[in-house]
Amino acid sequence: MTKSTYITTAIPYVNGAPHVGHALDYLLADVYARYQKEQGNTVRFQTGTDEHGNKIWSKAQSLGVPVEQYVAENSAKFQDFIKKLGVEPTDFIRTSSPDHARRVQLIWEKLKDHIYPAEYEGWYCSGCERFVTDKEHEETGGICPDHQTPYERLSEKNYYFRISDFKTQIKSAIESNELKILPEFRKLEVLKLLETSPDVSISRPKKNLSWGIPVPGDEDQVMYVWIDALANYLTVLGFPEKDISDFWPADVQFVGKDILRFHAIIWPAILLALDLPLPKVILSHGHVLSNGQKMSKSLGNIIDPLEILNKYGLDPFRYFFLRHIDTFADSDFTWEKFDAAYSNELANDLGNLVQRLAVLSNKNSVNLPDFTPTKDEEYISLMDNFEYTKAFDHIWNKIQQINKDINDLAPWSVAKTDPEKAKDILTDLDLRLLDAVVLLKPFLPETANKIAEIFSASSIAIPQPLFPKAK
Ligand code: MSP
Repeated sequence: MTKSTYITTAIPYVNGAPHVGHALDYLLADVYARYQKEQGNTVRFQTGTDEHGNKIWSKAQSLGVPVEQYVAENSAKFQDFIKKLGVEPTDFIRTSSPDHARRVQLIWEKLKDHIYPAEYEGWYCSGCERFVTDKEHEETGGICPDHQTPYERLSEKNYYFRISDFKTQIKSAIESNELKILPEFRKLEVLKLLETSPDVSISRPKKNLSWGIPVPGDEDQVMYVWIDALANYLTVLGFPEKDISDFWPADVQFVGKDILRFHAIIWPAILLALDLPLPKVILSHGHVLSNGQKMSKSLGNIIDPLEILNKYGLDPFRYFFLRHIDTFADSDFTWEKFDAAYSNELANDLGNLVQRLAVLSNKNSVNLPDFTPTKDEEYISLMDNFEYTKAFDHIWNKIQQINKDINDLAPWSVAKTDPEKAKDILTDLDLRLLDAVVLLKPFLPETANKIAEIFSASSIAIPQPLFPKAK
């Protein structure tokens, strides 16, 4: 069997409902999965939810709900969200599942040569579930900027994972692009960070963290979230109980910029310790901002993805987040921008074109010949390099050109004197539209299907508008 293309997304914490930021991981991965399938490859595509840790446990406590119930309910919201986004993973992993826990414990055992216990003392924020450096403590005046609570001085026993055993190997893998970090400027950041990366603490005393996977052989210690969470990419495939060579190494792992350091430093170290190959690409995407600012409850600028989906529908959502939210840099969401993209690009450029061509083809009784898409090297190269925004520009240029040609060639007026010539013009324009629409498939599957259906019928009927005025 040839190896499947294995695509992964970060698994979100389930301490709240999904927000638009979470959509980005899913959509970027989904486009790549659909594109790979279009290329004839088999795809394994993991998503899931990260369900352990104090934050989640405290949230459940404060609501008076058993934690198992709380995580199950929230995980279901993410599963529902994925469906609503038209994202079709092959696997959905929950880190609170017994299969995952058992496999993570087996992984821990395999890492043992690189794990050692030590006493840790430092400033800790329980909201962030992490110790901060003395420098960070000083700079913030001792108050966590995210939670507005003072840091506590804590001392505890932790197990540590000896990153230093693998630094040289990780550095050369990243430098040589054996492990490709995208975009390039993030790769440079990671290499810099790697130089000073200390060994990482990977457990907590049970009294400080009860909701997590127990450390095998030490009943007083529970695994800290990162080993548990990162391992999901392997446990979902059955590792170490099953042979995963049909899937691993991952072809691309999508993560947000805030968690790249875990994926580009701790994760490769874990894989090297397990004697597994490194992923081929880790793609770090930017963040979605709301009116130029980070989304936060206190600023009241959180965008509810369901509101967008209800108002505009699925493909307009996918369109905006895949074309106007840059794949690599931070980008801004505003309702004005969304509405402009919907009206000018989807409804005008594409929707009106489809409508005009269908109406004219219907009127002139156009019968399209069998259609075979042309191989578009530029598109393939952009997609292979995850340049989605540019791929969209490339498709849109084609659509604009068809719009221009329909106006210049004016088949409606040609029809008055030369109906056969008008038919030929329309046939050509229809086929060019179909050709462009094939390229849209990974991005806008519903729309691409609808357009293909309209123009594949033996007699082209007049369709409903694809992008009507939004509710
Ligand atoms: N649970 C960890 C990930 C473990 S992966 C082994 C986590 N969860 S998270 O819920 O905080 O974030 C999940 C994903 O959503 C991350 O890739 C993160 O970067 C992304 N985003 C969270 N907020 C975001 C935006 N505002 N914009 C874009 N992506 C954002 O970290």
